[in-house]
Amino acid sequence: MSETSFTPRVFSGIQPSGNLHLGNYLGALKRFVDWQARDVESIYCMVDLHAITVWQDPSDLKKATRELCAGFIAAGLDPEKSILINQSQVPEHAQLAWIFNCVARMGWMQRMTQWKDKAGKNQQNASLGLLAYPALMAADILVYHATHVPVGEDQKQHLELTRDIAIKFNHDYGVNFFPETEPVIEGAATRVMSLRDGAKKMSKSDPSDASRINLTDDADTIAKKIRKAKTDPEGLPSDAKGLEDRPEARNLVNIYAALSEQSVDQVLADVGGRQFSEFKPMLADLAVAKMAPITTEMARLMENQDEIDKILARGAERAREITAPILRRTYEIVGMVGPSEI
Ligand code: AMP
Ligand code: TRP
Repeated sequence: MSETSFTPRVFSGIQPSGNLHLGNYLGALKRFVDWQARDVESIYCMVDLHAITVWQDPSDLKKATRELCAGFIAAGLDPEKSILINQSQVPEHAQLAWIFNCVARMGWMQRMTQWKDKAGKNQQNASLGLLAYPALMAADILVYHATHVPVGEDQKQHLELTRDIAIKFNHDYGVNFFPETEPVIEGAATRVMSLRDGAKKMSKSDPSDASRINLTDDADTIAKKIRKAKTDPEGLPSDAKGLEDRPEARNLVNIYAALSEQSVDQVLADVGGRQFSEFKPMLADLAVAKMAPITTEMARLMENQDEIDKILARGAERAREITAPILRRTYEIVGMVGPSEI
């Protein structure tokens, strides 16, 4: 294994904690599918160990993991081309995370905005796992020597921390073993906002179901949520500049642009000057056309649980061919006595 050059490899993960939504689709899934077309080795992970940093009902977690795997496949990931895994089936993730817990500093973890948001006021009562979350995320990525990580905007800080961990490890042990991974945050929809409040991101944890389009919503529900989406009284501007200070309008145009694979300016060249009463039905039709096949395929796969479980078992086998040698070498670098020394 060369320690100075890293072949391009893509890794990304999503938490199986229910309610996959349009933000996940546009910010993550759809972009994973675009990467697949570029023929770079890719690993996509259902991060169940991350999910349990906050309480998960065990049977809900199982269902959400399989549903997420179904979502990956339904969105267009081919389990032959990409490696699909759930994190707990590839033990090297958690093993490397322990090493990284010893590399990362408390102060780094306490600065993370996700930690502050999720732990809230009662930090003493948050799980230790929630604080260590980004070290596990760094391990997810670096146990593959992954070079590219497509994610939404909200994960940028965690990826910077992943680089900091790689740099500190390499520096402390005098090696060039872990790559400095690049975040890949691109496209019109790296931050899809709530349909009810343009200042909040669309999120699985928003108590209002009307704030998001779930990948399990049927066509009528999708159309209704878009019809009711919050907007301002103005019509659509003719260029992107006209969307400044109009977060709700900008969000709907961004969604349209991402779904139709056009730039915001291209969309506005077509629809500029129209009212939202005209634009919303166009957006609803487009969203239904793009999402309905995914929803249907997800439902079909969920009826075939064995098929999903086999895909995950096979994915774990393939993944471990990559992760086992990287973990072994990490242990050697750190100074753990291993079988090779007997
Ligand atoms: P999560 O559901 O928080 O595990 O996020 C899974 C992936 O979806 C990550 O790459 C996130 O950055 C992305 N994501 C989540 N919410 C949004 C959103 N509202 N807009 C764009 N991307 C998102
Ligand atoms: N923290 C990510 C999220 O909440 C999920 C995640 C875990 C992840 N491990 C990862 C994303 C590794 C990219 C790479 O969205």
